[in-house]
Amino acid sequence: MKIEIRYYTQTGNTKKLAEAIAQVTGTKAETVDVPLTEETDILFLCNSVYWGGVKGQVKNFVKDNAKFIKKIVNVSTAALISSTYSQMKKISENAGVELDEKEFHCRGKFTALHGSHPDEKDIEAVKEFASWFMEDSPEQAEKSQGE
Ligand SMILES: Cc1cc2nc3c(=O)[nH]c(=O)nc-3n(C[C@H](O)[C@H](O)[C@H](O)COP(=O)(O)O)c2cc1C
Repeated sequence: MKIEIRYYTQTGNTKKLAEAIAQVTGTKAETVDVPLTEETDILFLCNSVYWGGVKGQVKNFVKDNAKFIKKIVNVSTAALISSTYSQMKKISENAGVELDEKEFHCRGKFTALHGSHPDEKDIEAVKEFASWFMEDSPEQAEKSQGE
């Protein structure tokens, strides 16, 4: 199963989640400046919102790399909104890419808000999410049934 991790960050919060996922998947976390080069079963796409919107760099990454992406798993941080899922759903639909129903979101530090987030608990939670997600994926399920 080919896993890739991409992130966009302005102040480092989302990068922390991407690097935590990298630890449990054994895959390097790269920024959205690094294109995909081969078919990817699961793309953990770590993103956030700035003045209400997911950045153009993230949208362009999905559009430009759509042919390689089998499925996106949304991972986000934000100060106010509870997830970027609805925005990411539109972005992935426009690109013709599947977005998994499961996602991970936590608060991200912004000025005086959420000073410590993502904190240790968030990091543990995203690691658990990524591990569980991989164990629960159809490819893994097929594999375990065959064993
Ligand atoms: C310029 C700017 C604009 C932001 N606008 C919003 C916003 O509209 N809604 C929101 O929930 N959070 C907003 N935030 C908070 C970020 O989404 C939050 O801090 C996030 O964790 C940043 O991720 P990053 O550190 O990976 O860039 C904003 C942050 C910045 C720096």
